[in-house]
Amino acid sequence: MILLDGKKTSEDIKSEIAEAVAQRKTDGKKIPHLAAIIVGNDGASMTYVSSKVKACARVGFNSTLIDLPEDTTEEQLLDEIAILNKDQDIDGFIVQLPLPKHIDEDKILLAVDPNKDVDGFHPVNVGKMCLELPTFLPATPFGIMELLERYNIETSGKNVVVLGRSNIVGRPMSILLSQKRKCGNATVTLAHSRTKNLKEITSQADIIVAAIGIPEFLTGDMVKDGVSVIDVGITRLPDASKKNGFRLAGDVHFESVKEKSSFITPVPGGVGPMTIAMLLKNTLLACSRKD
Ligand SMILES: NC(=O)c1ccc[n+]([C@@H]2O[C@H](COP(=O)([O-])OP(=O)(O)OC[C@H]3O[C@@H](n4cnc5c(N)ncnc54)[C@H](OP(=O)(O)O)[C@@H]3O)[C@@H](O)[C@H]2O)c1
Repeated sequence: MILLDGKKTSEDIKSEIAEAVAQRKTDGKKIPHLAAIIVGNDGASMTYVSSKVKACARVGFNSTLIDLPEDTTEEQLLDEIAILNKDQDIDGFIVQLPLPKHIDEDKILLAVDPNKDVDGFHPVNVGKMCLELPTFLPATPFGIMELLERYNIETSGKNVVVLGRSNIVGRPMSILLSQKRKCGNATVTLAHSRTKNLKEITSQADIIVAAIGIPEFLTGDMVKDGVSVIDVGITRLPDASKKNGFRLAGDVHFESVKEKSSFITPVPGGVGPMTIAMLLKNTLLACSRKD
């Protein structure tokens, strides 16, 4: 069993990005600038956003954090987005999800300038992804593709099962893996909560990407020998033995699945750090498009 070390791989990618930024500085080119908007004080979201800001410093990007209160109205948030859309110095920005219930997420995502949509969530960018045109790939699926590539995991002609059909992970993942591209050409099954006989389906899979948000859902008896497993899930479970009062659990029951796996990602330290690295990669791309 080989552990897919997202932490190390993401550090490699960040080093490559830092080198590119240093080169841009030497060449007198613009330094990438990423902005992030967070609304409210959800603990997990705050952790993600602060990791993103920290990662910007690590690679030499400029960053701006816009921290808005929970009772921010939809109009106020749209105004902030309009400002970032216009700001020439901001190359890309993200609006951290989930948003408070009184704000329509679709409306917000549509307001982001597709040229600055480094999360790759805007319909223009999703459409380009589907048509295999150059675009910003959504960071988590992009990170998974990068892990598969860097660990030389063969996908061509393989049976891949993606668990979960969200717009940010499962669905784009299923599209990318089925495309005629590097780390594509797989035969993909996209499973969801209405899927019947799931165990029969997962047992046939050469590769499984689990993105459902149910801790330790995929167990050893659901997979075949030699499977490669990518665990996207991150759930905070109460744990009194931890200083912060919780532990992170993936969608995969690591102990039983690892016994049968060729490759497997840990949680934490697998897909999570890759997502941040690919957000930086998209921001570098957004900046260099203006050269
Ligand atoms: N590592 C990272 O960087 C990263 C990034 C994003 C998300 N995540 C994590 O990944 C997990 C999934 O997040 P998400 O936003 O993609 O998902 P989501 O929007 O919560 O959707 C969950 C998906 O799982 C499906 N599902 C639920 N129960 C199922 C079951 N019993 N069998 C099969 N499918 C089932 C749902 O089906 P229906 O469509 O039928 O409801 C839905 O498509 C969460 O733990 C999240 O925190 C991690």
